[in-house]
Amino acid sequence: MNNHLNIVLIGFMGCGKTTVGKNLSKKLSYPFVDSDLEIEKEIGMTISDYFKKYGENNFRLIEEKIIQKLASGTRKIIATGGGIVKNPGNIYHLKQNGLIIYLKASAEHIYNNLKNDFSRPLLNVEDKYTRIQSLLEERKSLYEKYSDYIVEVDGKAVDEITKSIIDYLEEGYRL
Ligand code: S3P
Repeated sequence: MNNHLNIVLIGFMGCGKTTVGKNLSKKLSYPFVDSDLEIEKEIGMTISDYFKKYGENNFRLIEEKIIQKLASGTRKIIATGGGIVKNPGNIYHLKQNGLIIYLKASAEHIYNNLKNDFSRPLLNVEDKYTRIQSLLEERKSLYEKYSDYIVEVDGKAVDEITKSIIDYLEEGYRL
């Protein structure tokens, strides 16, 4: 296994990037970073509050800066925000020395994970399920196009998802 690369988890909100990332970090002994947390440290408030105050466009500018910073190091597990694929520059930076793994979840799976969560400003609407469906439709081809490896996560335990990623890494990036 090439052990100098970052392992980058992408996918829609609520697909398990943080949970799987932490588990991978434990199993591979790579440090774990979460781009949303790094953003919150930088802005000194929650992402939700930032969206309310300054809007999504300003959020995306900070996100780009943080992604560029995280992408520059090696040997980390990086959990990313679900919207990073909207900016091809983010992917360009992450691919320089990282492998991109897409945690692919259905709208049903995502809805189940997030139905009681109010920390995602883009999903604070009356009909959360329809919003998830339409955003996922908009983004799913981007997640697929940018990924080196895809893991379907519906109905799988965290350990199973983690194992599938480790198998992929050990087999030399089978696709
Ligand atoms: C977003 C996803 C969130 C966070 C922000 C915007 C998106 O991250 O970056 O609320 O546009 O999909 P998670 O995917 O970690 O929830």
